[in-house]
Order: sequence, then structure tokens, then C-alpha cells
Amino acid sequence: MTELKYLNKYLFKYKTNLLLGFFIIIIARILLLFTPGLIRESVNVIDEFRKGNIISIESVQTELIENIFLILLAAIAAGIFTFLTRQTIINVSRYVEFDLKNEIYTQYQKLSLSFYKKNQTGDLMNRISEDVSRVRMYFGPALMYSINTITLLIITFFYMYRQSPELTIYTISPLPILSYTIFKLSGIINIRSRIVQESLSKLSSFTQEVFTGIQIVKSYAIQKNKSLEFDNLSKKNKDNQISLVKMQALFFPLMILLIGISNILVIYVGGKQYLSGEIENIGIIAEFIIYVNMLTWPVASLGWISSIIQQAEASQKRINEFLREKSEINYNQNGLKKINGSIEFKDVSFTYTESNIKAIDNISFKLNNRKSLGIIGVTGSGKTTLIKLITKIYNIEAGEILFDNNSINEYDLECLRKQIGVVSQDSFLFSDSIINNIRFGKKKATIKEVEKVCKIAGIHNEIIKFSNGYETILGERGINLSGGQKQRICIARALIKGPKILILDDCLSALDNETEEKIIHSLKSVFKNTTTIISSHRLSSVQNLNEIIVLDKGKIIQKGNHELLINQNGYYKDVYSKQLTKKDDKI
Ligand SMILES: Nc1ncnc2c1ncn2[C@@H]1O[C@H](COP(=O)(O)OP(=O)(O)OP(=O)(O)O)[C@@H](O)[C@H]1O
Ligand SMILES: [Mg+2]
Repeated sequence: MTELKYLNKYLFKYKTNLLLGFFIIIIARILLLFTPGLIRESVNVIDEFRKGNIISIESVQTELIENIFLILLAAIAAGIFTFLTRQTIINVSRYVEFDLKNEIYTQYQKLSLSFYKKNQTGDLMNRISEDVSRVRMYFGPALMYSINTITLLIITFFYMYRQSPELTIYTISPLPILSYTIFKLSGIINIRSRIVQESLSKLSSFTQEVFTGIQIVKSYAIQKNKSLEFDNLSKKNKDNQISLVKMQALFFPLMILLIGISNILVIYVGGKQYLSGEIENIGIIAEFIIYVNMLTWPVASLGWISSIIQQAEASQKRINEFLREKSEINYNQNGLKKINGSIEFKDVSFTYTESNIKAIDNISFKLNNRKSLGIIGVTGSGKTTLIKLITKIYNIEAGEILFDNNSINEYDLECLRKQIGVVSQDSFLFSDSIINNIRFGKKKATIKEVEKVCKIAGIHNEIIKFSNGYETILGERGINLSGGQKQRICIARALIKGPKILILDDCLSALDNETEEKIIHSLKSVFKNTTTIISSHRLSSVQNLNEIIVLDKGKIIQKGNHELLINQNGYYKDVYSKQLTKKDDKI
């Protein structure tokens, strides 16, 4: 139960509702326990009449009608109270589920990218859905049935013992066996349903992957192989389902068998005691039979509850592992808020822990406010990594990154990121309308502002040609854009923030030379007021910038402006001559 202690704060938070719920359960149980006594009375009256101790049939009838009426009344009242119990305790379990999901989600957002590299998305999703719902079962049904059973057991035991101690012992002796069997059975059912869940999620991931990659599947003509794989997975799933159903099918017959045994014991022992005169009237036997039937489900539920608690404990353990995980990145919410736009790298180095690759090796440069920097280098030279370090997606390993002469660590990270517009290499857009994707950069942007940045990014004319214009839905539910269109929408999304620093990471690569030139030309108005960094393989994207650095294996191998670099032997000049010849070839 140690892991579940984490949830005590919620017990406290919803204490009023829970206490009210417990109170209502107790009342409902007491009301329901009137019934066996009334049935005993009724049977006794009939017995007395048969024996001739009561002469008038009318008085028997009146008593029976009165009893029936009281039983009905108690049942209705108990029903209403049971309804109210669900309204209190089960509702609390839903509130806790909601709170816990939010808590986990907030934690997910705080954790760094390396955390996401270590954990699979499916696993993260499971913790927020399946694990939380198992914990909810502990809070709702487990708590409710525990209180219910405990109240019922205490009161019933008291009533029964008062009538006949010996009969009581015989009656309840099969119940612990019932509880234990159900506990074992629930354990097996839980394991098997988890196996079913796993095979089901394998099957759906497989299907999803094939649908996503349907173009490749068709063009490589591997439909047959994929069908066979599907068959295998599907067969495994079917077998697992059948083995689960077998266990589930045992549940009720087993319960009925044990109730039957209890009933037989009551009739046999009770009958003997009645004959020997140990119990005074036959009504007690009827009363005990009702008790046995009333107790069966609650006692069986004890076994079920224990397995729920076991599962909740395991799930909460997995949740706690995440909640205890500290973000490697310090958000420093009380830090400096505003930046002007100058950036400096002082002997910065960075190694990816996962691959042990030193992607940035002792880099230094200074970029003044409203100046521009180009980063050139072969693939894998460290351009994207350098850009990620600027927004502190990763912590640097050595050196210092400064904004306006203050260390990056002194800034409130959220404020810092809001003032930097990054267009990343992989243009990611959400399955939402174009306008909402752009407004991601600034929630309350007017349509005029959106249009303005789209014109600068050179995409406005293409958007208005879509039948729904800016309201066109993208992605799974809507249309697909070309790589170049996506890149330009991402540029618009970064521009709308009005960033102090604009960073374009190789995001003009999908454009033809002419469109690239047009965009760079229109971006010039932005460059005037913004510090800009552009990384690229193509010199045309960076040649007009104030300063250019050439990276190779994480190191700066050349530095200067375009004029200087084309006159210097090295990588830049080589690429320049090659790209120039290519252009000539085309002409
Ligand atoms: N998440 C990561 N985990 C481990 N290693 C990584 C990771 N991302 C990049 N690397 C490695 O770091 C090095 C630099 O990668 P980076 O993405 O910065 O290169 P790049 O210059 O942007 O390349 P490209 O021009 O292809 O975009 C590469 O060797 C790469 O394999
Ligand atoms: Mg890159």
C-alpha cells in the first residue's frame, strides 16, 4: 500500500464527499437489514396459524400485508440511498481521475526531450489512460464496496449471533473460501485481460502502421506478407480472448455453488436445531437464508477488491516513477524576462548522452542585436544541435550561452522561448486549420496580422487558392500540403510571434531557387529589426547575412562574411564553385 499513499492528499481533498458517502452507505445497509427480520416474523405467523396458536385468518393477513409493505418501503429507501452513494463516492473517483490525469500531463510537459527519447509514446499514453483508470477503481468501487461489506458483515453478524450462535458459525464458514477463490480468480482474470490488451494494442499498432505506410506497402507489393502478419497477430488475439472468457465463465457458477453450499448448511443444521428445539421457531431458518444471500456478493467482492487494490498499487507505482522524475531543464520561473537580441556562445560543448556523439565542440561566436548569422556545414555537422541549445532544449555540457551578457540560466525559460521564433527542419503542423496553426505563435493574432506574415513567408497566394482559404484543415482530417508549403506556413507561424530572435533551421531546403530568393527578399524587412540565424546547406540562403560560420563535426572551421569566405581556400569556396557550376549547367 506504500505507493497508494501518494493518493492520500486526494482523500483529504474530497473528505466531505467521501464521509457523506460512507454515512449514506451505512444507512442504506441498516435499512436493507430490516428485511430478514420481517420475513422471519411472517414465516412465524404462518407457522403459528398452522399450529393453531392463532385462530383468526384476518390477523394473519393483516400482519403479512403490513410486512410486505414494510419490506417494500425498506427496499425503496435502500435503493435511493444506494443511488446517492454512487453520486458521492463514484463521483469522487472521477474527480481524482481528472486531477491525476492533469497532474501527469503537466509533468509530461515539464520533462525534457531526452525523457521522451527514453520512453515510448505508447507507454506514456498508457500511464495517463490505463494506469489512471486502474487507480480510479481503487478510489471508487474498492472504497465503496469495502465500506459496504464491512458495515454489512458487522451488523449481520450481530443479528445472526443474537438468534443462534451455532447456526451463525455454520452459515458463514463457506464465505472466507468464497472470498479467497474469487481473489485468486480475479487475479487470473486480470493477468489474462492484460495479455488481451497487449495483443489488441499490437494488432492495432500494426494496422495503423500499415495504413500510414500504405503507399510503400503497395509500391513494394508486399500486401500478401502483411496479410499473413495480420493473420498471425489476429489469431493470437483470438486465442487470448478465449482463454480470458474461460476464466470469466467460471466466476458466477463458482459463486452460485458456494451460495448453494451455505444454503444447504443453513437448512440442514437449522432444521436439526429446530427439531431438537435449540431454536424456537422456523422463521429463523428463512431469516438466515436471506442473510446468506445478502452476504454472498459483498464477501465475494472482498476478493475482487483485493485484486483491484493490488492492480492499483502496481499502476500507482508506475505513475509515481514519472511524477518523481525531475526535469533536467531548469525553468527558472523567477528569472529575467526580456531579451534585446544579442547572443554569445563562449566555448560551448555538448554531447548527446544517448549516442555519445560530441555534436558541438568548443564553439564561440558573438552575434549582436539585429545582426544576422549563417550556419553552413555538411549533414550531421551540428547545425540543428547548435540551434536547439539556443532555446535550451538540452543543457550544455561546458561553456556558456549568453543573451545580452546574461547567462541563459538566469532567464525565465518560458519567457525566453516566447521571444525566440524557431522554424525547425522538420515542419510539423497540427491537424487543425491553417489559421490555427499559424496562431499557435500568437493566440490572439487578427486575420490581418496572419495575412501579413503569410505574405512575407510567400504562402498567402497559395492559401487563398484553397477552397476554404485560411480555414482549410490540414493533416489526417484534411488536405496534405507539399513540403515547401509546410515550410512556409512554419515560417509564418514563427514570424507572427514578432520574435526578438528568428532562427530558420534549413527550412528553405524544399523550395526551388526562385521561391527561396523571393522569400529571402521579403524577409529582409524582418531582418532589419530582428536578430536572425539561418542554417542551410545552400549558400544562397546565407550569402547576404552579416556573418557566416562553417561547421564540421561540431567545430567552427571557417568564419567571416561571404566576400571573405569565397576568397579563402576551404569548404565554403568549394561549395560556392560547385553550386555556381550547377547554376551555369542549368542555364
Ligand atoms: N537526438 C539525438 N541523439 C543522439 N545523437 C544525435 C541526436 N540528434 C543528432 N545527433 C547526432 O549529432 C550530430 C549532429 O546532428 P545535427 O542534427 O545537429 O546535424 P545537422 O548539421 O543539423 O545535420 P543536417 O544538415 O542533416 O540537418 C549527428 O552526428 C547526429 O547523429
Ligand atoms: Mg539539421
